[in-house]
Amino acid sequence: FRTLDDLDPRGKRVLLRADLNVPVRDGRITDRTRIERLCPTIRELAEKGGRVIVCSHFDRPKGKRVPEMSLRPMAEALAAVLDRTVGFADDCVGPEAEAAVAKLADGEVLLLENTRFHAGEEKNDPALAAGLAKLADVFVNDAFSAAHRAHASTEGVARLLPSYAGRLMQAELEALDAALGSPKRPVVAIVGGAKVSTKLDLLGNLSKRVDVLVIGGAMANTFLAAQGHKMGKSLQEAEMHDTARQILEQAKSGRCEILLPSDLVVAATFAEHAPTRTVGVDAVPSDMMALDIGPDTVAAIEARLRQAATLVWNGPVGAFETPPFDAATVEIAASVAGLTQSAGLVSIGGGGDTVAALKHAGVAERMTYVSAAGGAFLEWLEGKTLPGVAALETA
Ligand code: 3PG
Repeated sequence: FRTLDDLDPRGKRVLLRADLNVPVRDGRITDRTRIERLCPTIRELAEKGGRVIVCSHFDRPKGKRVPEMSLRPMAEALAAVLDRTVGFADDCVGPEAEAAVAKLADGEVLLLENTRFHAGEEKNDPALAAGLAKLADVFVNDAFSAAHRAHASTEGVARLLPSYAGRLMQAELEALDAALGSPKRPVVAIVGGAKVSTKLDLLGNLSKRVDVLVIGGAMANTFLAAQGHKMGKSLQEAEMHDTARQILEQAKSGRCEILLPSDLVVAATFAEHAPTRTVGVDAVPSDMMALDIGPDTVAAIEARLRQAATLVWNGPVGAFETPPFDAATVEIAASVAGLTQSAGLVSIGGGGDTVAALKHAGVAERMTYVSAAGGAFLEWLEGKTLPGVAALETA
C-alpha cells in the first residue's frame, strides 16, 4: 500500500478517514489517545499544503441523526490538540459539505459530521461512497481501528479515489506485521479476558502461529475446568469445555506450547480489597472464585518472556479493574516493559481492555507498540482480512 511518502498533498483536497470514536462520559472525552495519534497525519498533510477533510463515525446511531452522537464537539477537541482552527460541516456529503470544502484554503482542516448518520455508511452504499469521493482528490485512511468494517467511508471510497495509508494506519500495520507477519522468534502470546467463546478464532489462529500461548483471565478457568479441575464459584463457560479440550489437543499436535495457570488468587466475593488466598489449581475452595493468576504462574510466564523475541498481548490476566486482582497483570506488564527496554523484546499489545490494563500498569509508553484498535486488532489476530486495509492494498 502507498503511504504519505508517496503523496504530495499540496493544493489537493484530501479526504482523511479518521477514527474519532473515542470514549465519552457525560459529554466529556475520557480518553484522547485516538485523537492524539491521528494528529501527526493531519499535521503532515496540512503543513505540506493539503486541504484536509476529516471524516469519521462516532458511536452507533444506526443511520439516524442522533444529536448526542454529533461529531461537532470533536472539532474543538481536535483543534486543541492540533493547535489550529478546525472547521465543521453539518453533514458528511451533499451541498453543505461541498460548500464547506469549496471554502478550504491550502493547509486548512475541516471536520465532517458523523458518517453513520447516513444508513448508507454501514451498508457500504456506492451512492454514499460517491458522495464522499466527490469532495476530494485523494483518500487517506488513518482508521486502522475501523478497518474491520466494510463501510462506505472505509472501503467504498477507497475504490473511487487514489488511496493512501495515513501515519497511524502505517504504524499499526507495521507493528502487527512485526508481531505475526514476519516476527522474530520465539513468539509468546498472552491472551486473557473473560470468555473463550469470544476468542475462539483468535486462539485457533495464534496456536498455529506462536511458539508459546499463555492463557489467563477468566477464560483460563474454562480450560482448567475442561481438564477436570474443580473451579468453585469461578466464572467459566461450561458449554465450552469440549471446545477448550480441542484447542489444547490441536496445539499439542502443532509446535505451540499452551501455558495455563498452575496457581490462582481466589476470593469469596468479587469486591475491591476482598480477602484473598493463593491456591494451586487443584485446590480452589467450592465457595470461592478465581480472580487472578498466582505468583508461580507469573514466574512461569516471566521465564517464557525472558526467552522470547516477540510478545503479542491481548486481554488482562486477572480482574484488573478491581484491586488486588490487578497484581499479576501489573507485574507481567512491568516485566514486559523492562525486557522491551533492556533486552530488545518486541512487545505489542492491543484490543479492548488491553490498552486500559497496560495504562493502569503504567507501561503503555514503554512497550514497542500499543494499538489504538479494539475489534480490528482482534480480527487481525484471528487472521482475518480487514476490508479497509484490503481496499488500500488493491487501490
Ligand atoms: C472501535 O471503536 O473499535 C471502532 O471505532 C469501531 O466501532 P464499531 O464497533 O462501532 O464499528
